[in-house]
Order: sequence, then C-alpha cells, then structure tokens
Amino acid sequence: MKLVKLLANLGYGSRTQVERHLRKGHATDLDGKVLGTKDSPPHGKVLFQGEPLDPPAPLTILFHKPAGYTCSTEDPGDTIYDLLPARFALRNPVLSPVGRLDKDTTGLLLMTDDGQLLHRLISPKHHVPKTYEVALDRPLEGHEAELFGSGELVLRGEDQPLRPAQLEVLGEKEARITIEEGRYHQIRRMFAAAGNHVTGLKRVAVGRLALPDDLDEGEWRILDDAAIALAKQG
Ligand code: URA
Repeated sequence: MKLVKLLANLGYGSRTQVERHLRKGHATDLDGKVLGTKDSPPHGKVLFQGEPLDPPAPLTILFHKPAGYTCSTEDPGDTIYDLLPARFALRNPVLSPVGRLDKDTTGLLLMTDDGQLLHRLISPKHHVPKTYEVALDRPLEGHEAELFGSGELVLRGEDQPLRPAQLEVLGEKEARITIEEGRYHQIRRMFAAAGNHVTGLKRVAVGRLALPDDLDEGEWRILDDAAIALAKQG
C-alpha cells in the first residue's frame, strides 16, 4: 500500500495533509531515511515524526468511560473521542464503540474497527453477557430478581419481552445485573419498571472480560487476541 494511503487510513491526516507531512520529511524508515509519496513500505518499517505507527486494523481497545461523555461521533458536546488520540476518530476503517453507553454511564467500553467482532458482541443472537453495577435511589424491594429473570418483562413502549436478566443484590440500594441485550436505556428502564430509579450505572464486564482495576477513568489500552476471546465468552 502506498505510504499516503497507509498514513491516511491510520488517521494521520487527509491525503493532502499526509502529502504535506511527507514533503516535510516527517516519515522515515527505521534507519532514518526519509520516505516519500512513491514509497510503499510495510507498516512496521515506518516511523512518523520518529515514532512507530499506531497499530493497523483490526484494532480493538478497552476504554474506561467516565460520566459526561456521549458515545456518538456527531454529538456537538463532549464525546468519548475527545479522550482518545485525535487519530482514532479519523481512522479508516473507523474505530466504533461496541454498543453505546449512556452519557452518564461509566465503565468498560470496547471500541473496534472489526465489523465481525462488533456484530458478534452486540447481536442478541450471540448471548454475550454485559454486567453492570447499579446504584439506586430507593432500597430494593425483593421482587426485582424474579421480575428481571422472568423473561416476561415488557418495557414501556415496547412489545417484545426482555430476555431473562440476572440480578445480584450487593446492598440495600446496590446491585449487579447481567443482561444479554442492549436496548435503549435498558437498565434504567428495567428499574423504572420495578418502581425504582438508577442514580449510578457502571459496566464492569463484557463476556468474561472484566474492567481492569488498574485502568482509571479516561484511560484505554489495546486488547490482544486473548482478551478479545474473553469478551466473546458467555
Ligand atoms: N443500560 C442503560 O440504561 N444504560 C446504559 O448505558 C447501558 C445499559
């Protein structure tokens, strides 16, 4: 692949911007020899401004989403892309969130440019569990686990019942809940159906991949194949 395309696909700029970088000698091989528009070097043999390139596609990252950021690319307000390297929003194929977390939901958000993986993780057909910790406005009443586990709960404005979800009570106003779908505001609406109100929501696992303890809010890391395999597991 031509160097201009390689760099543009990785988000280093539009083709015109990349060409400008190349004219300024910003891309070299590993020995420091300046590369130009006619070159087609392998990805691993290029330095951009002295640094190795971002990983090629397929790229999957785990991001610890803080509250106050939307998962949209179009939102004029604060978005998750504001917290990631600017190049990540410009890559082709684009790095998209694997399902969306609400603006005020925190925790584990996967982002990938691998369409098949994205489908595998969000399609309800594949039953990939997503686990959340929930803080509630009022004490749990005791009927919630049965209601959520029944497979008969129909959310307001919908006609298809939810799949059974597992609820584990952690405290008077705290619970862990595992769902296999990703309907709009699903957990908030489930607790509303149970007469309660969610005051805090954090995703702590996708499949068997847990949010790492050493990854603070706003931080991210690249996932290897073993971690991706864990995320796919039910
Ligand atoms: N359910 C919700 O209500 N919100 C989220 O962000 C995720 C699941």
